[in-house]
Amino acid sequence: MDKFLIQGGQKLEGEVRISGAKNAALPLLAATILADSPIRISNMPNLRDVNTLVKLIAGLGVAIEYAGDTVTADTSTLNNQFAPYDLVKTMRASILVLGPLVARYGEAKVSLPGGCAIGSRPVDQHLKALEALGAHIEVENGYVHAKVDGRLKGGEVIFDMVTVGGTENILMAATLADGVTTIRNAAREPEITDLANMLIKMGAKIEGLDTDTLVVTGVESLHGCDYAVVADRIETGSYLAAAAITGGRVRTTHTDPALLECVLDKFEEMGAEVTRGEDWIELDMQGKRPKAVSFRTLPHPDFPTDMQAQLMAVNAIGRGFATISETIFENRFMHVPELSRMGANIQVEGNDAVVTGVEKLSAAPVMATDLRASFSLVLAALAAEGETLIDRIYHIDRGYEHIEAKLQGIGAKIKRVSG
Ligand code: UD1
Repeated sequence: MDKFLIQGGQKLEGEVRISGAKNAALPLLAATILADSPIRISNMPNLRDVNTLVKLIAGLGVAIEYAGDTVTADTSTLNNQFAPYDLVKTMRASILVLGPLVARYGEAKVSLPGGCAIGSRPVDQHLKALEALGAHIEVENGYVHAKVDGRLKGGEVIFDMVTVGGTENILMAATLADGVTTIRNAAREPEITDLANMLIKMGAKIEGLDTDTLVVTGVESLHGCDYAVVADRIETGSYLAAAAITGGRVRTTHTDPALLECVLDKFEEMGAEVTRGEDWIELDMQGKRPKAVSFRTLPHPDFPTDMQAQLMAVNAIGRGFATISETIFENRFMHVPELSRMGANIQVEGNDAVVTGVEKLSAAPVMATDLRASFSLVLAALAAEGETLIDRIYHIDRGYEHIEAKLQGIGAKIKRVSG
């Protein structure tokens, strides 16, 4: 099993090219199922999760090719609507094929994803929404079997909570339903807008982009198009955090400051100088120790849960103390014991954590537990005295493209070791 060996104490400086967003790439791939002519998506990040979904879609009989940063898909050979457990269990986002399959082919059998380390993560909202569009749903032997006679029918969907995947699934399904679908309490993450933009390019009729009410007027069919995945705001924030925790100066390019304003505000509150360009962001910590900052995770446009662990790591060496509240997932503090092994002072009570900054972290063997938590350990290691060994980094490979090369490019001493 691969591990990272990181020698801490380097002030990181330089430029990092940001990749396409994993959380946009996955729904965009699922949306290829809706197109009746070939579709080409570029700026695809080379990630394990992307490969998993490509494999799943290939298993449906779709002619799908992934070369360089581009995926091309042609659904004319699609011959089954079955997503098996062994693929779905490795990535929850596989459930995103459910809506497109039922909408276009009238039927789908998709394994239930089950829980994951950060929480139980049910898909009840996805199913309820599809039922509101006329799908008949049965859950049996760990599989969701969704069926509709003829086409889905437009209707009103009101989510009980803000769900990113649920919004994406139903948005895709509604594009091919008969009539108008109104999706209320919709998630507004930029990756949803990216999906809506590609669907519009494919011929879909969607209004209300970037708001919590999406109105979709179903069309007969959708066609292929050329599309580029939006920049990864979480990857962007993660590398800016690397500058903040090491007192360095890092410019992220091929990104968009508008995607993560709330996170940039927090970096400024820490005392960093943040400069925004049209497609770049630079963070200069000027060798200073950041001030600890409090925040609460909430749906977009508020502070993203996917940046919680990284900002906690920066707070761990901050001046003063900060309170962090996690309101999206019930168990997303698994990085805390690992950070504590490196000398961080963090007290957890329920979904709140109080971080009292310490002057120095120290190297220790630690274990990655989930994707974003893993990056917080990388950050801590970059700032710590000594050499940190991070185990189970397969979690990081799910969502950070070329992480060692990108970090080495800004002066980090990181290497991948196997065994
Ligand atoms: C997506 C992101 C993930 C991010 C999360 C929240 C992708 C591939 N993943 O995950 O990185 O952390 O949004 O921003 O885009 N819930 C239910 N029932 C449902 C659906 C959700 O109870 O049917 C709950 C979940 O358990 C969770 C909360 O709602 O507590 C938010 O989940 P959701 O927004 O759906 O997250 P994902 O789409 O899985």
